[in-house]
Amino acid sequence: MEPNTFILFGATGDLAKRKIYPALYNLFVDGKLPQAFSVIGLGRREWSDESFQANVEKSLHQFSRREAKDAGLVKDFLRVFRYSVLDIDRKEDYLKLLKLTESREDELRIPRNRLFYLSVGPEYFETIAANIQVSGLGSADGWKRLVIEKPFGHDLQSARDLNLKLGKAFAEQEIFRIDHYLGKPVVQRLESLQQANPVIQALWTNRYIANVQITANESVGVEERAGYYDHVGAVRDMFQNHMLQLMMMAAIHLPHDSTIEEVRFKKKKVMESLELLQKGDVVANVIRGQYKEGSVQGKPVVGYTSEPGIAPDSMNDTFIAAKLQLDNSYWRGVPFYIRTGKRLKEKSTRIVVEFKEPLKQSLAKNDDGITPNLLVIDIGPNEGITLQLNAKDPEQKGAYKPVHIDLHASQENSPEAYENLIGDALTGDPTFFAHWDEVELSWQWVQPILNAFEENLVPLHLYAAGTYGPAESDALLAQDGYHWWFDSKPEQNNEISKGVQYA
Ligand code: BG6
Repeated sequence: MEPNTFILFGATGDLAKRKIYPALYNLFVDGKLPQAFSVIGLGRREWSDESFQANVEKSLHQFSRREAKDAGLVKDFLRVFRYSVLDIDRKEDYLKLLKLTESREDELRIPRNRLFYLSVGPEYFETIAANIQVSGLGSADGWKRLVIEKPFGHDLQSARDLNLKLGKAFAEQEIFRIDHYLGKPVVQRLESLQQANPVIQALWTNRYIANVQITANESVGVEERAGYYDHVGAVRDMFQNHMLQLMMMAAIHLPHDSTIEEVRFKKKKVMESLELLQKGDVVANVIRGQYKEGSVQGKPVVGYTSEPGIAPDSMNDTFIAAKLQLDNSYWRGVPFYIRTGKRLKEKSTRIVVEFKEPLKQSLAKNDDGITPNLLVIDIGPNEGITLQLNAKDPEQKGAYKPVHIDLHASQENSPEAYENLIGDALTGDPTFFAHWDEVELSWQWVQPILNAFEENLVPLHLYAAGTYGPAESDALLAQDGYHWWFDSKPEQNNEISKGVQYA
């Protein structure tokens, strides 16, 4: 990996503390940072290098997946951290930053490779990118990269505007748009699951697959983010980015040894084949929900409109479920059901691929315990990839029971999403970042939903906190003869959602 300078805007913020410093530390421990490396933190607070380093150290003790208990190692890690006060609008602060960056580069004898990480609100992206260019920070003779967090725009038009503006300072291949779901270890294994297993690859079509279900349930509510969340809702916060990225990752077909360009090309193809909903179709294919009071894991919680900072008449969506159809030869006729929401029964993110049941009729006509074959990809909080098959139950004549094949080498203490993503940005590997084409196509697909919500064409269903969302989300599948797998209803097999280990 080439030596470089990691320039962090928003160094005193929450994301830096919770995710970025621990990720850098774990990369350091794993020997995945360049030999010569420099970090410059930026923020409005008047911190010295020492107080910055002390704060970084504190965050390691609080949030690092590996305990930061080797004082010598921690000291070595912190040695490269410097701090500079920066007011985002002040040109002089960028010049001061340029001087500091150059002097550190000279001191450490490293080339002028610079990674600019914008851990700040999206309203600052444009100003920072422009100032990076004007100050000369971005025109040194090394490489430059821009890492940004979501949200990328608020709708299709604002995303396009933002992209144009960033494009003045950075080329597309220099922009690394983080979607932290793409950094999750199980999501990163999805490609190789197909590539390394011709059996699975062969089954990955509408001939064998009945439907695909993608769920990201959260038990938390709006937390302290009312100001942000009430303007975005589940559709912008999770659906337009994380959920559609999971859908792309589930639906692509990748030959062995695919290049980065092929992965991106195929993801784009998936998005292009997604059937566009007209505003009038939204009501039949999209369920909008909002939590009311209820109880989550035994604790009573208030409804969304009673949360601090939320207007009592807010119509914001805290839940969305949708049925998507891909119009291509692999997936035509296979519905993709996607749902995500807050204040649901438990936290769980998973993809379930339900296979068709051509043998059902001949194997047994009665209730014999046969369930469809399922491929269950548990993304979090439990990680696992499990194939559920049917086997004869030795204890009960004529009956079958599900057996589970674990396809995921268990990984104790696996790297966190941010470690994977920051590591990739440092090496310049864009595979697990959102390309502009994907972002634009995602907004394009979501836009009629935003319009329909805005115009109130879609009913807002209230659901009790601590459930799986409104009953209409179940009905969306029921009308096609399916149901959400692993919702812990008594009649369903829910072992996997409890994270049971299978032989
Ligand atoms: C973020 C959303 O992008 O993802 C949050 O803004 C959400 O609202 C979070 O809670 C979920 O991420 P994870 O990794 O906990 O599933």
